Amino acid sequence: MRKPLMTANWKMNKTVSEAVGFANNLKLVLRDAQDVEVVICPTFVALSEVSKILEGSSAKLGAQNVYMQENGAYTGEVSPLMLKELGCKYVIIGHSERREYFKEDNELINAKLKLALKYQLRTILCVGETLAEYQNNQTIDIVKAEIREGLAGVDKEQMGRVTIAYEPIWAIGTGKTATPNDANKVHKIIRKIISDMFDIKTGEKMRIQYGGSVKPDNISALMEQSDIDGALVGGASLSVESFIKIINYGKKD
Ligand code: 13P
Repeated sequence: MRKPLMTANWKMNKTVSEAVGFANNLKLVLRDAQDVEVVICPTFVALSEVSKILEGSSAKLGAQNVYMQENGAYTGEVSPLMLKELGCKYVIIGHSERREYFKEDNELINAKLKLALKYQLRTILCVGETLAEYQNNQTIDIVKAEIREGLAGVDKEQMGRVTIAYEPIWAIGTGKTATPNDANKVHKIIRKIISDMFDIKTGEKMRIQYGGSVKPDNISALMEQSDIDGALVGGASLSVESFIKIINYGKKD
């Protein structure tokens, strides 16, 4: 059984004090023994404070990015060692916004992922197609290349610390979502790609999150699908009220 994973990607939102307020409030409403794994990814500057608040809670801390070197003359960058020391358990790698605005390619993403895994961080590798690629029926080709190149050189043992987030770029922040059925078809193909690259067991064990306009009112239908193992949530993770509804999908109050 794959334990569902709900990740809040706050992107460049919330000052440190706002992040602290959210974390304190989330702790109040989070159940102790979660049957869902919860990860909060604030900006780098808020990691330290949020880490202290989440200590002893069932929610884990994640970062939105990491660099591919341990230390050195890389102005503005943050290494996996630094994230580990702050208490990060997860890191998002290769988000489409980083691919687009910061020109990250599969080779760089692969280097980041491998170093993060070396330092025992759990990685969320983001993949997904643009609207033009979707309209040209290129979804599978794009996703396959992003996975194959992003995971090059990763071994089976390390795959235990990898989650893939399928985020169709045309669904991010737009209010459009892939239908649960269409998303599930892509998730199944992703699982097959992983099984072919590694083995069936690795494919079966790997969690695949869906991302792109996930909201309290569409999460249940997504989670009913056989191969959707959680969500990477942007806008709807910014308020405790909506994020907790996503975490508690399918549960009565
Ligand atoms: P939205 O939930 O705001 O569409 O963002 C999705 C996303 O990019 C999460 O990483």
